[in-house]
Amino acid sequence: MKNEKKKRTGRKDIQKALRLFNYIKPFRFQFSIGFLFLIITALAALAFPKLLSMLMSSTPQNLSENLWLLIILLVVQAVASFFRIMIFVNVTEKSLANIRQDVYKHLIQLPMAFFNEKRVGELNSRISSDTTQIQETLTSTLAEFFRQIAMVFGGITILALTSVKLTIFIIAVVPTLMLVAVFFGRFIRKYSKKVQSEIADSNTIVEETLQGIQTVKAFVNEWFEIGRYRLKTNEVAKTAIKGGMYRGSFSAFIVLGIFGAIVAVIWFAVGMIHNGELQENQLSEFLLYAVFIGGSVGGLARVYTNIQKTIGATEDLFEILDSKTEPVSVDHPKAISGFRGSIEFSDIEFSYPSRADIQVLKGVSFKVDQGEQVALVGPSGSGKSTIIQLIMQFYLPDKGKILFDHTKATTFELSEIRNQISIVPQDVLLFGGSIRENIAYGKTDAGQDEIMEAAIKANAHQFIGSFPDGYDTIVGERGIQLSGGQRQRIAIARAVLKNPKILLLDEATSSLDSESEKLVQQALEKLMEGRTSIIIAHRLSTIVKANKILVVDGGRIVEQGTHSELIKNSESRYRQLSEMQLMGEGL
Ligand SMILES: Nc1ncnc2c1ncn2[C@@H]1O[C@H](COP(=O)(O)OP(=O)(O)O)[C@@H](O)[C@H]1O
Ligand SMILES: [Mg+2]
Repeated sequence: MKNEKKKRTGRKDIQKALRLFNYIKPFRFQFSIGFLFLIITALAALAFPKLLSMLMSSTPQNLSENLWLLIILLVVQAVASFFRIMIFVNVTEKSLANIRQDVYKHLIQLPMAFFNEKRVGELNSRISSDTTQIQETLTSTLAEFFRQIAMVFGGITILALTSVKLTIFIIAVVPTLMLVAVFFGRFIRKYSKKVQSEIADSNTIVEETLQGIQTVKAFVNEWFEIGRYRLKTNEVAKTAIKGGMYRGSFSAFIVLGIFGAIVAVIWFAVGMIHNGELQENQLSEFLLYAVFIGGSVGGLARVYTNIQKTIGATEDLFEILDSKTEPVSVDHPKAISGFRGSIEFSDIEFSYPSRADIQVLKGVSFKVDQGEQVALVGPSGSGKSTIIQLIMQFYLPDKGKILFDHTKATTFELSEIRNQISIVPQDVLLFGGSIRENIAYGKTDAGQDEIMEAAIKANAHQFIGSFPDGYDTIVGERGIQLSGGQRQRIAIARAVLKNPKILLLDEATSSLDSESEKLVQQALEKLMEGRTSIIIAHRLSTIVKANKILVVDGGRIVEQGTHSELIKNSESRYRQLSEMQLMGEGL
């Protein structure tokens, strides 16, 4: 689908790509000066073969004069090239910084539904390759394009002024050959891309099996993976060998075609000299222009593909810029004054936008008073996490109303609401950086004392202190690996700093061993005090303490009440679930 789009570049696409120039507009003065230098370099390049042939056919009298002309031309071209590149790079980098900032600012405000449909890694690499593509085009491809156009048209004009007949011969032979060469070259490149992607496939096997080496060994599947890898690499070799044949033919073609063309032009021109249609000293000029024009035609084809790629890249970026954002505020958020934190769901129906055909919530209603602690229990896949996502306002319900403090959620600003809620998920993601920075994520302007106080409340201060670098310990990919319970407690410290009215715990303790579970549980209980809390939990001990239990099954709330009320009824779903838990299956 995407490829198809890229192949046919219509007027609309070009119009879209022209939006790129909106980003250059603020620098248009600088840009026009750069363009001036570009014209100078193009003209100089055009004059070069002329002066070169003049030097070649100089008489002893004008030899030094011709040499000086060339030296001056080269110096002018060198200076103009320097300023052209400097100015274009300057304008491009400033525009590109603005593009990157705009795209990121837009991207980060897109709704969750967008991120569900796109793979984050793909998005990331797309943005970086798209901007690189644009950068290349603005700094060099555009200049190349104008230089080559000038060379082709200017060169042909110069040739025609001397001999129309020979010019027509050259136009017929040289550029045609160059075009054939370019297309042949492109075919070969496509082939080598195929080899590349096959290599990538075989690398995936290496990468996956090394990452999952435990699984490979545990299943004694070394033989299987060796076989898989052998098959793939043999395929790579086969494709590459076939590509080698094409490359061989290409090089034979170059020798025959390109050098043959030069021979043909010389042969034709010498014939003309013999007939008196051409002067002997014009031959070298002709040849030089012919070679330069041929080179430019070849270059133009490359430039054309490059510009097309840029149009595609620009389209991709503007697709992101044109996607509708959530109405989040990008200013430092303010608190809603007097927010108390009661929650009500009234007949909520919901399907994830990416799976509109599957209704996840089928009319969910419940009330949670301010400061109340409510447990959601139910089999996995019943919709518990979805309820929490809807409280976070990550998605809007298809039907029904969500109320905070008896007011429709949509009357509040999105950022205001989210600012009153903290979520502690099962898998806590820490950003690469220090522990201090990670805790401060809950309140970016928190001071050292506040951070430490939060860590103490979260039962995290002690283990942080046991690291040599304390709060400055680097975590994440390049830092130390924290255990699940430690990450959990850092997330709790974040939540403490944020000081929300509503707390959402999505199986916050379910993946922990009992030792760290106890520490996390203690910290959570402190955190829950006085806050409206919704807890998805597996352990009966946590659930029993809740003010109210909502039993979720198949996208509905099938029972609600306290533990003692629900357990009394021997027929209740709750009783069933808790019996399963006692047997070790978990709620
Ligand atoms: N992001 C999503 N996109 C589409 N479907 C989803 C998404 N998240 C969950 N679901 C589906 O919604 C249903 C309820 O999931 P969830 O609320 O996570 O259940 P629970 O937390 O009770 O285990 C499941 O069928 C699940 O496959
Ligand atoms: Mg869940």
